[in-house]
Amino acid sequence: MPQNNPDVIHLEDYRVPDFLIEHVELHVDLGDGGTRVGSRLTLRRNGEHGRPLVLHGEGLELLSIALDGKSLAAGRYRLDDETLTVEGLGAEAVLETECRIDPDGNTALEGLYRSNGTFCTQCEAEGFRKITWYLDRPDVMARFRTTIVGDRTTQPVMLSNGNPVASGTTGDNRHWVTWEDPFPKPSYLFALVAGDLAVVEDSFTTRSGREVALRIYVEHGNEDRCGHAMTALKHAMAWDERVYGREYDLDIFMIVAVSDFNMGAMENKGLNVFNAKYILAKPETATDVDFDGIESVVAHEYFHNWTGNRVTCRDWFQLTLKEGLTVFRDQQFSADMNSAAVKRIADVQRLRAAQFPEDGGPLAHPIQPQSYIEINNFYTATVYEKGAEVIRMIHRLLGTDGFRKGSDLYFERHDGQAVTTEDFVAAMEDANDADLGQFRRWYVQAGTPRLICSGDYDAADGSYLLTVRQETPATPGQPEKAPLHMPFAVGLIGRDGADLPLRLAGENSAEAGTRVLQLREAESRFRFVDIPERPVASLLRGFSAPVRLEFAQPAEDLAFRMAHDSDDFNRWEAAQELQNKVLLGLVADRRAGRPLVLPDMLAEALGTALDDDGADPSLLALMLTLPGEVMLAQHMEVIDVEAIHDVREFAVKALAERLRDRLLARYRACHAAARPGFDGASMAARHLQNACLAYLSQLDDIGRETALAQYRERRTMTETMAALARIAASDWPERDEALADFHAAWRNDPLVIDKWFTVQATAARADTLEHVLALAGHEDFTLRNPNRVRALIGAFASANPTAFHRADGAGYDFVAERILALDASNPQVAARLIAPFGQWRRYDKARQERMLNQLKRIVSQPGLSKDVREVASKSLN
Ligand code: ARG
Ligand code: ZN
Repeated sequence: MPQNNPDVIHLEDYRVPDFLIEHVELHVDLGDGGTRVGSRLTLRRNGEHGRPLVLHGEGLELLSIALDGKSLAAGRYRLDDETLTVEGLGAEAVLETECRIDPDGNTALEGLYRSNGTFCTQCEAEGFRKITWYLDRPDVMARFRTTIVGDRTTQPVMLSNGNPVASGTTGDNRHWVTWEDPFPKPSYLFALVAGDLAVVEDSFTTRSGREVALRIYVEHGNEDRCGHAMTALKHAMAWDERVYGREYDLDIFMIVAVSDFNMGAMENKGLNVFNAKYILAKPETATDVDFDGIESVVAHEYFHNWTGNRVTCRDWFQLTLKEGLTVFRDQQFSADMNSAAVKRIADVQRLRAAQFPEDGGPLAHPIQPQSYIEINNFYTATVYEKGAEVIRMIHRLLGTDGFRKGSDLYFERHDGQAVTTEDFVAAMEDANDADLGQFRRWYVQAGTPRLICSGDYDAADGSYLLTVRQETPATPGQPEKAPLHMPFAVGLIGRDGADLPLRLAGENSAEAGTRVLQLREAESRFRFVDIPERPVASLLRGFSAPVRLEFAQPAEDLAFRMAHDSDDFNRWEAAQELQNKVLLGLVADRRAGRPLVLPDMLAEALGTALDDDGADPSLLALMLTLPGEVMLAQHMEVIDVEAIHDVREFAVKALAERLRDRLLARYRACHAAARPGFDGASMAARHLQNACLAYLSQLDDIGRETALAQYRERRTMTETMAALARIAASDWPERDEALADFHAAWRNDPLVIDKWFTVQATAARADTLEHVLALAGHEDFTLRNPNRVRALIGAFASANPTAFHRADGAGYDFVAERILALDASNPQVAARLIAPFGQWRRYDKARQERMLNQLKRIVSQPGLSKDVREVASKSLN
């Protein structure tokens, strides 16, 4: 990208708006042949200046325009593709416009569009400008009054933000309703929904005694799939009162589930719009992972009411202010609802799978980026997930009470304002009299730091010296990195498996358990004294900072920690490290042509875990599951796709043979214990049952019958899908029949059919690409539905390394072609499919060239969207 590219928006260019909007009156007249949007803006000049009013607007057909009640002649305003400019405004002015838009032709799903006939909106980040002319930036906060006019038969339900204040009919079978939102808000939080929807109702009484009506709107026939989302919502409302002291502020809270949605969900004030995937669930149709996803996304959007809506972002460079903080809050919430350790592991797995590659590749950016071309490309794992880790570190450094004091001050100071990440950090500092000066580097420095650790036990004086060096690799545009301030949680485990009391040289007293050290320098040393025996170190407990830990620990110590670490996250981490060590050793053996032999100690360590009746079955399931191919690849200098795949398959089978009886016993016990439904014990049992099945299905004698029996039982979707995944990856004669049977059973259920596509796209088989090509031509496949695109193409490109990285390049070709086809209708979703190509540097020369050729092919396509152009061209670097 040339430095002076006018398309590049820079944080340093931020200026306050020239005008403010106090009040907006919208009049939206919905129709089948186009929608008319009338707008009345009450404007105020911001400061002393003579600049014209420049409003954003895209794809709007102007019908009329008037200033202060007088229609404007053609010479008094200017229109171009992106703006409407009006000169000669007084200090206060009223601008009225009317335009026509085409929701039916809106395939980008940004602005006002239709999903299965229902009108709905997605305005974050810059979709409001596709509805009417506006100062479409988050630091312009206005009160909205919205009138919707629609057909009584096809739009009996018409919703917007706030409260309904008036309604009526107009003849012609049409009716209208007016909504008023008392809270000033930026345009990205505007929402409108109209259609023939069913509603599921409940209520919540806030701690100050106000009753809030809760309504979930869904397509008819889905009413019986809203219970889990409703329960999650009520739990989230109570949790935010208890943990953050935050109460809901309107009389109604509405959620609408739509089938076509670019992202997960959207926190519009009082009217959240959701991807149906994150609302609809019952045990017959949704897996436990889906149930967890619903609980966390419902909570996430609800929590935005305070962290995002009441206090919003000054500009889009501050996105992590609301997203990092709100992800952290939803993670805390889910941890409180279920097993905290299992939740932490899932969050770290996600960070490592999605954010680490981003942070180490051509698209690396700090959680607060400095520039962008298309803001939609910056709703990234870095802004969200690493952003949440940064908030989590502040929480660790200040403690639970300190963090709460800080958030209280943040809300007190900034309620009703559009602010910056600096305002948040300053509130945390001021409330605690803390110094987060050096810590601020996390906001501006990209790249995943490496923590290179060593430990030395001195038997003569009974001390243990821990040395920690930090090093952040260079990222594009940031060759030099400064040391970061971070919490580093550690424990030292004694021979009996208990944590040793920890006392640093110079301190008077010791405390047992985990100790949070603070790292600030490029190299830090900590000397623990009174250590009677060589300890086993447990470092970075709970993953206290988003770093790569490098600590050479012998396999025996890892196995010991798997059995004894008091930190459950680190028990799992020790299992992962041991498995990585063994599997990467086997990869080296295979590459050197040596025979593959599974080391006894891994089977023994996993056998010990399987015997642990006291542990959370979900934690055991995670410990038993070998790192996936994508995770293993991260540890190789040059990724050897085939070797990783073969070695992992070998290890699963070898372990299945070695642990057969214990796996079978656990499998049966879990199967007997689990009840359909979303209770923690049943979910944990199913988790372990399916982890055992992944092994057992590899056994020549009983594998096939075990998987088929679980499939045919059709007990819960969690069990059915785990079994179908084994069947889809197999050569068993029942394979095709099972897939056909599943499709026939669920053909009218799009969210379930998505699973049918994914299970085939991710099957590890030599002919998967051929199947995927056929599926792309299946009558149920469409590029118009984002969930379907992700289910087939997204899953193939990101979760099936052997097929996507096929040596002949046919996998690359398939995905690149679909990216180009999709770009014409939905640039946002198309741009998200490019990420796997950005990892080209990690592969061998032949694959590098093939991946680069596809990126070049994409970039050279005429008429490419900004979205795809930005990601593809940056990926070439
Ligand atoms: N604010 C939403 C959330 O995290 C995400 C909306 C993103 N939309 C977009 N078009 N980039 O809950
Ligand atoms: Zn969010």
